Amino acid sequence: MASSSLSVVLLLCLAAAASAQISPTFYDASCPVALATIKSGVAAAVSSDPRMAASLLRLHFHDCFVQGCDASVLLAGNERNAFGNVGSLRGFDVIEKIKSDVERACKRVVSCADILAVAARDSVVVGGPSWTVSLGRRDSDTASETLANRDLPPPSLGVADLNTRFAAKGLNLTDMVALSGAHTIGRAQCRNFRSRLYNEANIDPDFATARMATCPQPLGSGDGNLAPLDATTPDTFNNDYFVNLKLNKGLLHSDQVLYAVAGGATEEIIDGFASNPDAFSNAFAAAMVKMGNISPLIFPQGLIRRTCSKTT
Ligand code: HEM
Ligand SMILES: *[C@@H]1O[C@H](CO)[C@@H](O)[C@H](O)[C@H]1NC(C)=O
Repeated sequence: MASSSLSVVLLLCLAAAASAQISPTFYDASCPVALATIKSGVAAAVSSDPRMAASLLRLHFHDCFVQGCDASVLLAGNERNAFGNVGSLRGFDVIEKIKSDVERACKRVVSCADILAVAARDSVVVGGPSWTVSLGRRDSDTASETLANRDLPPPSLGVADLNTRFAAKGLNLTDMVALSGAHTIGRAQCRNFRSRLYNEANIDPDFATARMATCPQPLGSGDGNLAPLDATTPDTFNNDYFVNLKLNKGLLHSDQVLYAVAGGATEEIIDGFASNPDAFSNAFAAAMVKMGNISPLIFPQGLIRRTCSKTT
């Protein structure tokens, strides 16, 4: 066989092997209860704490942006100490509880990375769009605070720098705006939006005054006080986040910069999402699939952890 056709055959085999391993039906034979177990675990957690839906969604984002979706964010220490994570990420116990339920049914079969990807989807489904999660990601045996600080976007960034961080993960401007729509649910701490309240001009005055009441100016006071990222419907997954941006009611600097000047690239995308909820739902689902596919570890890479916070 000519060496070129041999390499074609090899490539086809490799492609077949890879696609056989990342697929929505990955656990159908090896752990048929996996998806239902994750779904009920998420539902229980969200019913006792509605904010948990937002926290699980964010956990998946912070996992995928650092070394890919490999559950590195769940390992104790390391990434969890990075700037955007420490004192902020929530939901570790929920994932650990789901993992132990899944382990009871199927020992060392389902990865923490997959559990997180499915939990993020199931968190949004109440009121928001759904999508099919491909499975077969494996877990890392490392995590890096340095990489987390390099790759996670802080809320102080402008559009160009935000775009650079997302583009580095294969996500385009439409994906970035759609994914920012995750801020239709959840809360932020005063320390992350104080400077916007007191220093920025493109903020609705009544909105600013209302937020200032629980986020006073002196540095350090009320740092941890929470405000909803979407003041209109704080716990409902809808397109109000984009409507708010058009009214200068974005909470974070990194939210409002997406709608600064009418007619810009991100502004056009936001106009579309603000006027058409289905357009947002479809773009969000597509972008979540893309984000969930960032650099997965495929067998024989990686491992299946028994406990999500440890490599053993
Ligand atoms: C565009 C760049 C982004 C920046 C700069 C950013 C920044 C932030 C910040 C500062 C907070 C508040 C954290 C705190 O105060 O403790 C937050 C919360 C949140 N973020 Fe983002 N974020 C971005 C994109 C995303 C994406 C892509 C997602 C998911 C797809 C997401 C989902 C969330 C959720 C759901 C919350 C609320 C979490 C909770 O209530 O526990 N964010 N984000
Ligand atoms: C961005 O990616 C989405 C898929 O997530 C695709 O539909 C869209 O055409 C892309 N946009 C650009 C400008 O490449």
